Amino acid sequence: MGICMGKSAKCAHASSNQFMETTSSSSDKQQESFSTNKKSVSLSFNKTVVAPEGEISVSNSLRAFSYHDLKNATKNFRSDSLLGEGGFGWVYKAWLDENSFAASKSGSGISVAIKKLKTGSCQGHREWLTEVNYLGQLHHENLVKLIGYCVESDNRLLVYEFMSKGSLENHLFRRGVQPIPWSTRIHIATDVARGISFLHNLDSNVIYRDLKASNILLDSDFNAKLSDFGYARAGPTGDRTHVSTRVVGTKGYAAPEYVATGRLTIKSDVYSFGVVLLELLSGRRALGDERAGGVDEETLVDWAKPLLADKRVLRIMDTRMGGQYPKKEAQAVASLALQCLDFDPKLRPSMLEVVAKLEQIPLAKNVSRTLQVKQEHSGRTRTTRTR
Ligand SMILES: Nc1ncnc2c1ncn2[C@@H]1O[C@H](COP(=O)(O)OP(=O)(O)OP(=O)(O)O)[C@@H](O)[C@H]1O
Ligand SMILES: [Mg+2]
Repeated sequence: MGICMGKSAKCAHASSNQFMETTSSSSDKQQESFSTNKKSVSLSFNKTVVAPEGEISVSNSLRAFSYHDLKNATKNFRSDSLLGEGGFGWVYKAWLDENSFAASKSGSGISVAIKKLKTGSCQGHREWLTEVNYLGQLHHENLVKLIGYCVESDNRLLVYEFMSKGSLENHLFRRGVQPIPWSTRIHIATDVARGISFLHNLDSNVIYRDLKASNILLDSDFNAKLSDFGYARAGPTGDRTHVSTRVVGTKGYAAPEYVATGRLTIKSDVYSFGVVLLELLSGRRALGDERAGGVDEETLVDWAKPLLADKRVLRIMDTRMGGQYPKKEAQAVASLALQCLDFDPKLRPSMLEVVAKLEQIPLAKNVSRTLQVKQEHSGRTRTTRTR
């Protein structure tokens, strides 16, 4: 969750890549109408989040955990259970009994990821609440499952399904990890596009606002799910073209018109999706990758766009794939990325169009994903692929 936008900048962990909040607009206040009084937390959801039939089930099934339960499950938040750290706080792995949800022995019951908010983290409570409210109600195979939460005095925690392969960021950029094969990259892109498309097609046009590689989590079969809904908000409805809001998100991923004006539309997410596509193609970070230009503050988009416009797609491709990708399809994906990154938001495709285009990429079509991914990762040939 990209957080910590406070004026006072008294943040526990504020990445320099995250935008700093200045003021809250009235439309933001609407979102803040959740109770933010720490003593009496309201978990009611004030907005209609209604999905097309069959795609959403409004759920009251979130489990309220006690702090004691979660402290036990993580062995007092011991460092050897730590999975990672983000702006929101720390994430720990734990095991829970599948019936009682009490702490269980490592390897028995269900594995979960427990996110613990840094106390004193500015903005943290509001984003924690936004996340509980959105993920508590939205269910889709490409959104990470929120199992429960804990709110006790100053402690704020979230309990999610455990995603065993961690974040896409770790797989794309971390040294020493196995490079992700082409078809898996396309599967991940398609999953992410489906998740965003699902949000955009809810009646309240939910805008995710923080799409980036670290917020894309992967399960054991490299199925991708969106995590971190702390910045999600309802988009424009009716005749409105945009909502005016504070600028939040992450540099290198946020759409230029949103950063410049605070005017937010669903096309802001489409831009960020274009950046993630570029990361998947190139294996380079959205911001701060020395190989992408080497000029301070030059983004991946600044570096890649001229090459793509010039049809020099091969120049941007991740060399860790060892050339093992179909050139024509790489062209098609790069051209889709370029459309998503159009300076004019109106010219960017909708996420439904993006999903449709990605589903046309032969490797992502009519394939048992699990089978294919497993075969590729065990080094077998891709003979079962259907075109
Ligand atoms: N449900 C989960 N299952 C497995 N690992 C997880 C899960 N949620 C988070 N993680 C791990 O914890 C790390 C930290 O996650 P977190 O969302 O707190 O921060 P981030 O996404 O890296 O940064 P930011 O605060 O900018 O969003 C992730 O990169 C991931 O490796
Ligand atoms: Mg995150």
